[in-house]
Amino acid sequence: MQGLLDGKIAIVTGAGSGVGRAACLVFAQHGAKVAAADVDGANAERTATLVREAGGEAIGVACDVGDETAVEALVARTVAAFGRLDVMYNNAGITILPKPGQGLRRFVDTDQAEIDRIYRVNVTGVINGCKSAIRQFERQAAADPGDPKGVIVNTASVAGLIGYGGTAYGSSKGAVTILTRTLAIELAEQGIRINSVCPAGMPTNFIPGMGENEAAKASMGQAHPLGRYVDPADCAHAALFLASDLASNITGVNLPVDGGLSAGVQVRKR
Ligand SMILES: NC(=O)c1ccc[n+]([C@@H]2O[C@H](COP(=O)([O-])OP(=O)(O)OC[C@H]3O[C@@H](n4cnc5c(N)ncnc54)[C@H](O)[C@@H]3O)[C@@H](O)[C@H]2O)c1
Repeated sequence: MQGLLDGKIAIVTGAGSGVGRAACLVFAQHGAKVAAADVDGANAERTATLVREAGGEAIGVACDVGDETAVEALVARTVAAFGRLDVMYNNAGITILPKPGQGLRRFVDTDQAEIDRIYRVNVTGVINGCKSAIRQFERQAAADPGDPKGVIVNTASVAGLIGYGGTAYGSSKGAVTILTRTLAIELAEQGIRINSVCPAGMPTNFIPGMGENEAAKASMGQAHPLGRYVDPADCAHAALFLASDLASNITGVNLPVDGGLSAGVQVRKR
């Protein structure tokens, strides 16, 4: 079977866990060579090892996406290892956790330092990833104008599409969805595509302990019209589609992967 990313070189950020790890495995299964990047270098290396054990090619790279110099170095390291860059998947993201015994933090009670911390990863991290990838795509186009064009995929959130969950987090993801649309228009002339996946609730390490809490997972599933929570692999498959030539005429899209959560308000049958 032909892979959807045969011969492509991909960077995945936030690759040490959850969606990022799933995406590295799925991209590699579809023929991509992968740079698995995470602020936690040991987990990035672990993901690269899992890809290699599954028969793929990967390197693990320690990289804080909030640091522009580190992201430039990530791209340089990837190009040194694999020769070029085709797909940049800006997936790393963080949230504000509720204090023990409390629900979602009220916006007015959220310290500016916490908002800055979230924006640094969720917004600046995506900006850094986009800029460094575009610079590399432009170098490749300058060397060979007929070269395949690069693709960017971001992980936003259903919280970047509708009011859902915490305001600080949702507003950071709203920045990603509008960045995706606006940058798509700017990059279209160069043939570079950019899209986002917008997942709803996933029981990853994003909310510590969630993966092992069966009751919480069941309740998370029930919150989605299709009746199940989002699996990191659901998100990875959506990212695979957007990164592949199957989506060659798709740009500026924020694709919900949310079991229908953002489709509208559920009206229950009596
Ligand atoms: N889990 C959910 O319910 C959910 C819902 C909607 C959207 N998302 C988004 O999905 C994406 C992936 O989340 P996940 O559920 O896999 O979470 P996760 O916590 O399992 O994985 C996120 C990874 O990002 C890494 N990371 C954190 N800060 C970083 C930084 N500065 N630089 C590089 N890497 C960094 C972490 O070390 C971790 O390995 C995030 O953007 C998140 O906002 C998650």
